[in-house]
Amino acid sequence: MKNWIHIALPKGRLGEKAYAMLKNSSYDCPALEDPGRKLIFENPEKGIRYFWVKPSDVAIYVERGAADLGIVGKDILLEYQPDVYELLDLRMGKCRMAVAGKKDFRDPVGQTLKVATKFPNITRSYYSGKCRDIDIIHLNGSIELAPILGLSHVIVDIVETGTTLRENDLMVYEDIVPISARLIANIASYQFKDTQINTIRERLQGQVESKYD
Ligand code: PRP
Repeated sequence: MKNWIHIALPKGRLGEKAYAMLKNSSYDCPALEDPGRKLIFENPEKGIRYFWVKPSDVAIYVERGAADLGIVGKDILLEYQPDVYELLDLRMGKCRMAVAGKKDFRDPVGQTLKVATKFPNITRSYYSGKCRDIDIIHLNGSIELAPILGLSHVIVDIVETGTTLRENDLMVYEDIVPISARLIANIASYQFKDTQINTIRERLQGQVESKYD
């Protein structure tokens, strides 16, 4: 009986780019190229099944074994610290985690710094490394609004092109960590489907190297 490989792809541009790399590695799945509203696609000949998953949920599917492999941003791995293997840096979906604020922002030394973010764990660990007392305001999106409306002094967020900051008259104050997409594996799957998983990893690695080295 064939060992199916289940792969969780993040819905959106990153997932589409990741699928293009998998397709080039001969893990194509024609059904996925005309998806409609479906979420699961399979290519029985290749023994491969793909799911479209909300980007921040990919690591949960992989950690709990609903998917053998997943493509996920390093930001999610740093924030949720899932118990998975990180197999490869795909060197795409590049961006950075940064502290940003209004152009006239001055750190209110001696006061608690109010920080709005979708990434409370990354934020806590960054400021605890600086011994800075903070109050985290946990938001789910449009974080840039917080300093503009006086909800926070600064934000900790993803900066990719910088357009969102620029168009809202905000700027980066400190870089925290560079981010890119990673290939992750479920720990048990990596043991039991090691040959198939390593073949996928090697083929993707070959593509990353031919593109960037
Ligand atoms: C992310 C991030 C920034 C924006 C950065 O938001 O939170 O808002 O992208 O990209 P840029 O530097 O290229 O402008 P996302 O699009 O995920 O939406 P959200 O506001 O709902 O989190």
